[in-house]
Formats: sequence, C-alpha cells, structure tokens
Amino acid sequence: MGAYESLLRPLVFMLEPEKAQALAEWALRRRWLWRLLSWHYDYADPRLRVRAAGLEFPSPVGLAAGYDKQCQSLDSLLALGFGYVVGGTVLREPHPGNPRPRVMRLPKEHALVNALGFPSVGVDAARRTLEGLQQQGNLRSKPLLVSIAGLSADDFVACHAALEPLADALELNISSPNTQGLRIFQEPDTLARLLSALSARRRKPLFVKLPPYADAPSRQQFLALARLCATQGVNGITVANTRPVEAPQLAMGRGGLSGRPLLEDTLLMVVEARAAVGQKTAINACGGIYTARDTLRALRAGADTVQLLTAFVYHGPSVAGRINRGLVKLMEERGRPSLADLIAGPDDGPAPRA
Ligand SMILES: Cc1cc2nc3c(=O)[nH]c(=O)nc-3n(C[C@H](O)[C@H](O)[C@H](O)COP(=O)(O)O)c2cc1C
Repeated sequence: MGAYESLLRPLVFMLEPEKAQALAEWALRRRWLWRLLSWHYDYADPRLRVRAAGLEFPSPVGLAAGYDKQCQSLDSLLALGFGYVVGGTVLREPHPGNPRPRVMRLPKEHALVNALGFPSVGVDAARRTLEGLQQQGNLRSKPLLVSIAGLSADDFVACHAALEPLADALELNISSPNTQGLRIFQEPDTLARLLSALSARRRKPLFVKLPPYADAPSRQQFLALARLCATQGVNGITVANTRPVEAPQLAMGRGGLSGRPLLEDTLLMVVEARAAVGQKTAINACGGIYTARDTLRALRAGADTVQLLTAFVYHGPSVAGRINRGLVKLMEERGRPSLADLIAGPDDGPAPRA
C-alpha cells in the first residue's frame, strides 16, 4: 500500500465524494507542484509506447473522461504518468447536472456510483481554458482527448467545431446512463447521421464511447454500434461507460456503477468488440482497470489502450506510474522485449498486483 492509500485516502474519504473531488481539483490546480513531482510519478519507458488510431501514446494507460470535466488541470494530470488523458465531458451550454447527492462510494467493492448528469461549464469556457493551457505550452507532451456530448446532432457538431483544434482527438460520449436524451444516439440510424455530419468536418481522430450491455438485446445494439463505428471510419471506440444500477441513496434513485466490479464484463466486451470491428479500429478498454495485470488482460483481449477513473480515486496519483512500472517489470521477468511481445506471449505465471 502506498502513502496515498495509507495516509491521505482515509482523510479524503471522510469528506463527501464531491467535496473530496473539489479538494483534489484545488490541489491539481497547483501546477508547479505536479510539474515538480512528475519525476516521481511520470514513469516513461520506450517499451510502453503504443500506436493506435493514428496517435502515438507514450503508455497505453489513459485517464477516462469525467475526472476533469472542465479541462482545467489536464497538464497536471498528464504529469502523473498517464499516457493520455480525456478531458470533459463538455456540453455546448453550461449545465448544473443532477440534484445532489449524486456520487457515492462503495469502498468494499472499490467502486463508485455516480449520477452527476454532466455538470459542465459549457463549450466556450472549456475552449478558453484549453487555449490558455495550449498557450503556456503545457499540453504538448502527450495525446489529449476531449469528450463531448449533446442532446442533438447540432450540439455535438458545435462542441466538435470548437474543441477539435485544441485536442489531438475527440471522444463522443453517447453512453452516459444519467442523461435520458443521450440515448437517441444509441440508435444506430441516429448515430450514423451524427457521424456523417461530423465526417465532412473532422480533421483529427474520432472516438465513440459505447454503453455497456446487460442482456441479449443490448448486446446486439452494442455490436451494431461497434460495427457502425468501424464502417463509418471512426478511429477508435471506448468500451465502455458505467453500468446502470439502482441507487436509492442518490437523489436520482439510480446511477452508473464504476470500478473493480466492472472488469470481467469489460474484458468480455472488448473481445466481442474486437471481433465485430476487425483490426483497423482502435479499442480503449474502460471499466475496472486497477493494475498492470488488469491492463495486460485488457490488451490481450484486444484493446489498444486502457482508460481508468475509479482506480485513480482509490489509489491516488501514483496509479498510472505503478501500472506502467508493473508492465515493464512483467516484460523483464518474462524476457519480452516489447509490450507487443508481452501481449502476444503465453500468460506464463501470475503478474504482480502493481
Ligand atoms: C464520478 C464519475 C464521473 C464520470 N463522468 C464521465 C463523463 O463526464 N463522461 C464519460 O464519458 N464518462 C464519465 N464517467 C465514466 C468513466 O469515464 C468510466 O467510463 C467509468 O468510470 C468506468 O471506468 P472505471 O471503472 O475505471 O472508473 C464518469 C465516472 C465517474 C466515476
């Protein structure tokens, strides 16, 4: 157990989850601190490099959308060893999100349930923040993705136009379980219209974040959406968003489950998505990734990269560096010269719980 888990987390977890998040955001805005600490957290090794969706990632471990919704601390987050970060989700107009309480922890399960419903400063404010970070030259080192959402194709197109020049790629969030209107884009015809509206304009890679499936009909829909993304030239899909659950403790009475309980489903969905899309479309495995072993399992299932969020909340700023170190240790223990060889090789023995 690291210093964060034994010393800081018990204190941070005494706070209500959104207060703890506000404290973390305050700390992340002390940019000098994270620049200074990056020698400790940002573990780089050329063997971790991954090429996917036309982008070069220094590590396959990304921070998932939703941690830095306002895109205000992406530079600090990049200093923590993530191979890339996803800012947002950003909406076209400022939006307060759902009534509180809207986030809860399930510490025994290493999980969270959230029904945030997209609190967003709106696209204009996010654009100004990103412009500021770009002007300071703080976002050059690693790929930056920005997640966008909307209730109409026009909303998505407006967010895309405003933010694409400032990011390396955009991720379309059509899958939050907490926003009813988003579901229209889970209909293949509606998504197809949105993708063709974007295809004429876009200059940079595009990702689509899919909803997880729970039963046979939603599995068919998931596979149809994945195939549609591949045929429409989407560069990558993120598999997947949170799992809808009942949550009487939250004001909405339900929310999206994230964290460790999702891992096995994530791996299964990645296998199925890979079979559906073929080799051309990148896959980001998202849901329940905590360790180097989880990451390796996801890459073996067919993912190109992984994204995590809940593990960052539970394990703190060292989580990405620990996974990176764990992957390198595995390569060395097993005599594999590269990540690709580690992925392709037999699963010879237990991996460390990095
Ligand atoms: C508090 C919280 C807020 C989130 N907000 C977003 C969001 O704005 N956009 C999005 O695409 N996903 C959002 N997610 C989902 C995560 O990006 C991710 O898909 C999910 O948490 C599963 O990954 P994990 O198990 O590593 O947390 C959020 C998750 C959490 C826990």
